[in-house]
Amino acid sequence: MPAAFRIEVMHGVNLNMLGRREPEHYGTLTLDELERQVEGFAGELGLETRFFHTNFEGEYVEHLHNLGELVDAVILNPGAWTHYSWAIHDALATAALPAVEVHLSNVKAREPWRAVSVIEDLCLASVAGQGIEGYRVALERLREELGGPQA
Ligand code: DQA
Repeated sequence: MPAAFRIEVMHGVNLNMLGRREPEHYGTLTLDELERQVEGFAGELGLETRFFHTNFEGEYVEHLHNLGELVDAVILNPGAWTHYSWAIHDALATAALPAVEVHLSNVKAREPWRAVSVIEDLCLASVAGQGIEGYRVALERLREELGGPQA
């Protein structure tokens, strides 16, 4: 039986504060709880997930540099870096993997600076404002892109 597709889920700056951070925007789950639930969504779709978080932009960039051989696709929530980090844009372009961007909150309906995403042109889809369900939508989109369940 072929191995399941591997999806990297990359959380950026301040996402480790979930559960304690503006619950009206980001909900009440901690990052750890969110990751366990996303792992469950992936399992239902026959996908495998790996998770990464850092508050350091250079670490996020280096992680993208090293992803190419390790996974089949990537889900990114870079937090505030989304709105201005051309370094992350370029590293994502280098990774050359199918990518979907996820935001827990509805970034288009908040401050104008949050409406801009510098990675959106490299992503198959941008999912925002659906809370944790947005990760399920992203996983479904990537499974479709990779060719459906492998098992
Ligand atoms: C976020 C939205 C960003 O604007 C914000 O800086 C975050 C979280 C979200 O998931 O809604 O840190 O990416």
